[in-house]
Amino acid sequence: MTVHLVGAGPGDPQLLTLRAARLLERAQVVVHDRLVSREILQLVGPLARVIDVGKTPGLSHSQSRINELLVSLAREHEVVVRLKGGDPFVFGRGGEECEALHAAGVAVQVVPGITSALAGPLLAGVPVTHRGLSHGVTIVTGTTVHGAGIDFRALANADITLVVLMGVRRRAILAAELQEAGLSPETAVAVIERASPPQQRTVRCRLGDLADAKVTSPAVIMIGAVASLELNGERDTAIAMGA
Ligand SMILES: C[S@@+](CC[C@H](N)C(=O)[O-])C[C@H]1O[C@@H](n2cnc3c(N)ncnc32)[C@H](O)[C@@H]1O
Repeated sequence: MTVHLVGAGPGDPQLLTLRAARLLERAQVVVHDRLVSREILQLVGPLARVIDVGKTPGLSHSQSRINELLVSLAREHEVVVRLKGGDPFVFGRGGEECEALHAAGVAVQVVPGITSALAGPLLAGVPVTHRGLSHGVTIVTGTTVHGAGIDFRALANADITLVVLMGVRRRAILAAELQEAGLSPETAVAVIERASPPQQRTVRCRLGDLADAKVTSPAVIMIGAVASLELNGERDTAIAMGA
């Protein structure tokens, strides 16, 4: 009994790892989150049971119930796949699930996925680092954890790209705090919604306008000089994706 904790990438099935695709074919049960795309779920074998824990009453938002479900499924089946959007260890609570499974004596294999934090900007033609513009990248959550806020003074650095996940709802606070901490209102921002063509959409603005930007979740917010670059237009992106 093994639970395979698998990263599904940003949405395009062509951005799955080969290991992930093979596991989806072999799985007897697939337990997935809300952000896993329909196209990727179509790769699951026809006899497998598919459980959406993002929507199942009593399971959505309850990490402990999901952990219990994974343990009980692992005791009944040989190949259980726990499928998560992006990478399981980037704001995916994959670490918590690993700990719970290990504590219950269940073996875990983790398969990395391409995180939306890096794939989103790339698919929009924006490099997260770029010689002369940005010499680093910081990935943070836009939500607060247990009431603890983000240290914006440490993040307000014009030489480092800031990538914010789960930040759409609190973008006004994010923008205000970063400006208060010293970032210019002119700082470039790119918001990449639903990364992966054809549904992907990129909205560009300045930090001073982020609060009013018309954007919806799921989206990656990137802040920094690189956000003004566009190194592959829509057409090149489509070719790169094999569309
Ligand atoms: C709970 S986190 C999961 C992150 C995921 N583990 C990863 O590595 O991409 C959910 C957040 O990731 C971002 N996200 C995930 N998939 C996305 C996508 N396809 N397009 C844009 N943002 C995405 C959004 O910021 C969303 O609110």
